[in-house]
Amino acid sequence: MSKGTILVTGGCGYIGSHTIVELIQSGYEVVCIDSLINSDQESLRGVEAITGQAVKNINVDLAKDHAAATIIELGIHFDGIIHFAALKSVGESVAEPLKYYSNNIKSLIAALEIAGHYSTPAFVFSSSCTVYGQTDQLPVHEDLPFMTTGSAYGRSKQMCEQIMMDACNAPGATGKVISLRYFNPAGAHASHLLGESPINVALNLVPVITETAIGKRDSLTVYGNDYDTRDGTCIRDFVHIMDLARAHVLALDALLEGRQKNIFEAYNLGIGKGVTVLEAIHAFEKVSGVALNYSLGPRREGDLPAMYADNRKISEQLQWQPQFNIADIMRDAWAWEQVRSGK
Ligand SMILES: NC(=O)c1ccc[n+]([C@@H]2O[C@H](COP(=O)([O-])OP(=O)(O)OC[C@H]3O[C@@H](n4cnc5c(N)ncnc54)[C@H](O)[C@@H]3O)[C@@H](O)[C@H]2O)c1
Repeated sequence: MSKGTILVTGGCGYIGSHTIVELIQSGYEVVCIDSLINSDQESLRGVEAITGQAVKNINVDLAKDHAAATIIELGIHFDGIIHFAALKSVGESVAEPLKYYSNNIKSLIAALEIAGHYSTPAFVFSSSCTVYGQTDQLPVHEDLPFMTTGSAYGRSKQMCEQIMMDACNAPGATGKVISLRYFNPAGAHASHLLGESPINVALNLVPVITETAIGKRDSLTVYGNDYDTRDGTCIRDFVHIMDLARAHVLALDALLEGRQKNIFEAYNLGIGKGVTVLEAIHAFEKVSGVALNYSLGPRREGDLPAMYADNRKISEQLQWQPQFNIADIMRDAWAWEQVRSGK
């Protein structure tokens, strides 16, 4: 029996498509909305190949006027909403802040309007560790106040969390919200039928590593090796995409089973262990047997020396435990890169 129908916005994207696999395999039905601004529908073919279920995409830009009304007119009842749809390039958001505020905030408001129309009890939001801003209190805990963040992207996530709190505290509101603050999602589904395939240039470290190894890029630059870390390079918290995807199902289950007391709850979603950029590169070289062409370059403006999660809250309250480590991430990301490059 179906556990309910879940609206997944941004479902053709990297995290959305992997989460749809977990949702289907956990007994949920899925409706996907994606404007395809940073994806294509090929990912849904991967979902079908893995789960045996076809998922249709409704191509709507949620940031456009009347987007919520367009979806509501379809008359589909949603038991829960997972809102992934957003633009996510930190650098681009510095250059084009209005594009980021407009897209990320208007699309959230549309998703909340849809939730309000159906009195949807469960709303899960894709937040980011960037909300903590320039903090040096490590590992970061959910109770830390938001600090200044250097990008419109980060500020749009801070604003989105405030908007959701206001919306679910409004008189008559019935829904509850979980905001999942992702650290560094990476890797691919173990079937290697699904992985990260951005339409725009890949910027995250792991796809940059695999694209360099396969020859799509000549070399990789490590930005800064003079930080106060164990090997001088930045520390990040890489979390396997399927561990991340599973957390969304745990969050939905908790909301739909009425186990969440507070109206709004935020959880860090990282494995809680920092890996340096050089350790990540060496982990890749070990699992792939490929020597990576990389060089050490100057620091990049805005990069924090280290960022990793205190993940006790999600472990205690949602029983989430990561099952994969950096070697698993590199193994799956490399296998996926070879599949998508036809090698
Ligand atoms: N990947 C990361 O490193 C990371 C880290 C922290 C947070 N996040 C957040 O997770 C979410 C998903 O990220 P992702 O890595 O899967 O990115 P992605 O670009 O692969 O997926 C986002 C999807 O949303 C769609 N989209 C964007 N704006 C839309 C709109 N207005 N209407 C409809 N569809 C729209 C895009 O076409 C894309 O398919 C985003 O909110 C992102 O900010 C990602």
